[in-house]
Amino acid sequence: EKGNYRHFMQKEIFEQPTVVAQTLRSYVRQLERTVALPQIDFDITSINRVTIVACGTSFYAGMVAKYWFEMFARVPVDIDVASEFRYRDPVLEPGGLALFISQSGETADTLAALRHCKEAGQTIAVVVNVPTSSMAREADLLLPTHAGPEIGVASTKAFTCQLAVLAALAAHFAVKKGRLSKDEERAIVDHLLEAPACLNAALDHDDDIAQMAHLIAPARDVLYLGRGPDYPLAMEGALKLKEISYIHAEGYASGEMKHGPIALIDDHVPVVVLAPSGPLFEKTVSNMQEVRARGGKIVLISDAEGIAEAGEGCMATIEMPKVHPLIAPLVYAVPVQLLAYHVACAKGTDVDQPRNLAKSVTVE
Ligand code: F6R
Repeated sequence: EKGNYRHFMQKEIFEQPTVVAQTLRSYVRQLERTVALPQIDFDITSINRVTIVACGTSFYAGMVAKYWFEMFARVPVDIDVASEFRYRDPVLEPGGLALFISQSGETADTLAALRHCKEAGQTIAVVVNVPTSSMAREADLLLPTHAGPEIGVASTKAFTCQLAVLAALAAHFAVKKGRLSKDEERAIVDHLLEAPACLNAALDHDDDIAQMAHLIAPARDVLYLGRGPDYPLAMEGALKLKEISYIHAEGYASGEMKHGPIALIDDHVPVVVLAPSGPLFEKTVSNMQEVRARGGKIVLISDAEGIAEAGEGCMATIEMPKVHPLIAPLVYAVPVQLLAYHVACAKGTDVDQPRNLAKSVTVE
């Protein structure tokens, strides 16, 4: 079943252009260039708050979505990991939408949080990859990802498909709330439909990333930095690396580094910086200078413009296509997945079955 691939994880990384395109087909009308969601039988304009709950990689997809919901739809968003949310007695007021994100649809803490929100009278939406799962059955609004079965324990294609659905949901919200003109909606749909080709362009760097994996494999600690929607991506990159290569890694908001983690930086600590060019780029460049001044070795993941501006003096650079900010998190997921994958291969770990981990966490 792995075809020409060495591991399921590798196969699933390379399936992303196809499965993201497949997922988007259910959420946009290509000819009309509009977003299209499954039948919604509640008034979406009456939603005054969104509460997002998930675990692990699905939680990071939710963190990206928080930026999008706030930016496009101007709806306030609360987000938490399920194991904290369910025990903290959250304030859930009428008119709230509770949104659960899960590949399996069975994660015990997320499911318990869903039931708690249902009892509290929230409208329940779920983004799940298994349409027959418990979460799918208990939702008011089912938003399936069409990633196909994910076998590798480390989640990859489910994540980018979750992001595709969440971007469409944010745009749909914005349209319904009258915050997007027809032209703006069409532009958003066009950008979403560019995602598969951009994912392919990102996958073209597989060989380069395999080469640079040897620079990371000997490290004991690795830091990942990102800003805005790339901050959750930094945490996702760190999670992937620790899960499958067993190297200690942390994802940080670029601007937070000087508030603590900078103390870790020396010439043994690679720092992976996720920074598409754009309004926040200059800020990230100054964070990179702080790292470099302390001997830190930087891997810069950016586009041609960003690399031309800040690539000098980096240990390595990975050039992404220039993409619209809306799809950047999908595209930048690819190099962090490939980097973790190749580092794990270089270390000879069991990529598809990392120690101590299970694909579906049905214990609390
Ligand atoms: C990371 C990973 C886990 C899952 C988490 C939630 O690669 O796979 O962190 O994302 O256990 O699982 P689901 O999405 O099935 O609820």
